[in-house]
Amino acid sequence: MTERNTTATGDLTRERLKSTASARWNDERSAEMWGQYADEITRHGDRRAWENAIRDAVGEEPQRVLDVGTGAGFLAGLYAEVGHDVVGCDVSEPMLERARERAARDGFEARFTTGDAEALPFDDASFDVVTNRAVIWSLPNPGLAVWEWYRVLRPGGRVVLFGNHPEDPARGVSERVVRRLYGLALRVRRGGSATGLDGRTRREWNEAKTDLPFHHAPPSKIRALFAAAGFEDTRVLDAAEAFDQWRTLGPWRERVPWHVVTERKSG
Ligand SMILES: C[S@@+](CC[C@H](N)C(=O)[O-])C[C@H]1O[C@@H](n2cnc3c(N)ncnc32)[C@H](O)[C@@H]1O
Repeated sequence: MTERNTTATGDLTRERLKSTASARWNDERSAEMWGQYADEITRHGDRRAWENAIRDAVGEEPQRVLDVGTGAGFLAGLYAEVGHDVVGCDVSEPMLERARERAARDGFEARFTTGDAEALPFDDASFDVVTNRAVIWSLPNPGLAVWEWYRVLRPGGRVVLFGNHPEDPARGVSERVVRRLYGLALRVRRGGSATGLDGRTRREWNEAKTDLPFHHAPPSKIRALFAAAGFEDTRVLDAAEAFDQWRTLGPWRERVPWHVVTERKSG
């Protein structure tokens, strides 16, 4: 039921959307940009606030953590640095290369491996925590992904989502305007595209992404998806403190209401 309701149904077929997304995320320049972005956040962020956000979400005991859509390993690094046993997976090898480079450079331990969020290469019940930031929106079939995350979690394990999508549609529109301005500022600063993408890949992705079922999805829509897959005990935690420290990228960032949502697998 969940899968049928949350699969891409626009003009592009699911397969085409999948291959456009793959080209978009495997783009070298885009991976470069996500590497810089991960560095900027970790450099300017407040360590203590990050650690608190992770501790509030998963507690003090070391956990087996899977960071799905890890990109350049931004979240994976934060979990590893507070003592968790972390695997980061991604569909993009260029992103994973950045993550491995960052781990070697910054001295954190995590394993980075190829894996599709919608068909994970891991055994049932092999993680205590499945986490991610800014990934659900990008998936052609988020319903399939959530079932997969449920499968690889042990009973009682948690999904922990870092997000900043506003519930209120009016606020959503104003934040999209702010993001556009932010993108423009990055473009000027970097002397190119804000996403790192160029030419055909950018055009195809811009056209395709509006067909993604969770593009600009509010938190209530995301929570409904988790509830339908059998998750329970939803907790929404405020992560504004961690993200508010990230100021130097632009004045607008402070206005984004970052939060963490945790969902427990029954059992
Ligand atoms: C917006 S970026 C966020 C990266 C990272 N989570 C962060 O917060 O810096 C989305 C990431 O999800 C990855 N991704 C997209 N679709 C995926 C899929 N089906 N399975 C695994 N990773 C995926 C992309 O390659 C990219 O690294």
